[in-house]
Amino acid sequence: MALVMTEKLGTHEFAAVRADFPLLARNVRDGRPLVYLDSAATAQKPEVVIDAEQDFYLHHNAAVHRGAHQLAEEATELFERARESVAALVGADPGEIVWTGNATGAINVLAHAIGHASLGRGGAAAQRFALAPGDEVVVTGAEHHSNLIPWQELCARTGATLRWIPVSDEGRILTNRLEDIVTDRCRVLAFTHASNVTGAVTPVAPFVARAHDVGALTVLDACQSVPNLPVDLHALGVDFAVFSGHKMLGPTGVGALYGRRELLEALPPANYGGLMVEVVTMESATYSMPPQRFEAGTQMVAQAVGMGAAAEYLRELGMDAVAEHERGITGRLLGGIAELDGVRVIGPTTSDQRLAVVSFVVDGVHAHDVGQLLDDAGVAVRVGHHCAQPLHRRFGIAATARASASVYTNEADVDTFLEALGRVRGFFGVSDRTAVAR
Ligand SMILES: Cc1ncc(COP(=O)(O)O)c(C=O)c1O
Repeated sequence: MALVMTEKLGTHEFAAVRADFPLLARNVRDGRPLVYLDSAATAQKPEVVIDAEQDFYLHHNAAVHRGAHQLAEEATELFERARESVAALVGADPGEIVWTGNATGAINVLAHAIGHASLGRGGAAAQRFALAPGDEVVVTGAEHHSNLIPWQELCARTGATLRWIPVSDEGRILTNRLEDIVTDRCRVLAFTHASNVTGAVTPVAPFVARAHDVGALTVLDACQSVPNLPVDLHALGVDFAVFSGHKMLGPTGVGALYGRRELLEALPPANYGGLMVEVVTMESATYSMPPQRFEAGTQMVAQAVGMGAAAEYLRELGMDAVAEHERGITGRLLGGIAELDGVRVIGPTTSDQRLAVVSFVVDGVHAHDVGQLLDDAGVAVRVGHHCAQPLHRRFGIAATARASASVYTNEADVDTFLEALGRVRGFFGVSDRTAVAR
């Protein structure tokens, strides 16, 4: 494959974008240049994010929303400005963004709050969320465990039933099953915007339309989409969404729960304690307005500031340009893999409605061995079930190897990966005949 180097990412010089990520310059195994293709697990960080977090600790560190001193004022200002940046990236209002520890934390906040409503907490307004036996929560067969287990547990606590929409052989959620699975018993429809295994992007509109028809709430797992696609939550019309800072070039330890304002206002808290209350007596408490109502305890301020810097960085690159870059890398990954014997992609094999998250199996070689051989070549991929065991079971496999890209990935990364992947079967002495015999 000819080496056509990306020169531009939108209006930016690609080389300058890549140079923003200092870690990419390091060498790994035996001095080999790092080829980082594990961005779907966690992305590398641009210098502006590292600087924002460091600057906060060096110059502004204080607890936010309390304290009468200058540092507290500066910290609060930076914390709330970061909320505005994250909201602007995803087409939301700042008051609709709740800081959480990560996407998993965000789904748990929501599921716990709905659980509390189901116990009668939150007054009359919260009853619209209450679940009871006979109600249904619907997910899909493509979910990350984080968008499955909290709903399993919520159903176990409330007596509601969990149902799911299956996935096609190509790894796409079967939208044609929406009508028969999402019925008027459905109260919550939680689905991924983009699978962290198949890379398939879900068409959101039919899910939102069906949920509206039956009066269900929609919850979008936007963990993989927010870093790679233009996402406008108001335009998508979902009720709730979650995403993580660390996957969108920001720090670990911070994520977000988006909720439509009127829904957050009606939802009872998930966690209780300091900073989410108005009046507290020995017997009871009244709770703050959102988003503070859902942010009990001292917040992850430096991390939020870092996530805000990541949001600004992505906005500056332009999400359309990011998505176009992603499409180019996806095409090169898929095209290159298609030329290799005995390597099978689990997910769509064209770049249409798909991210550069490419999971694959090498016939006759365990995913962990594939990962180790790639690592020997300096190529970092993820191996295992990627926190999506049911989806792997759907394809009759226990594990895959996964290559995933980000704004800094270039063609040379992909080609080094493909070259190493092309050597795997030979290294393990697997031919088409032995692969079948195994
Ligand atoms: C689609 C999807 N949802 C949820 C998560 C959970 O994200 P976190 O571990 O940051 O909470 C991930 C992480 O891999 C993911 O890819």
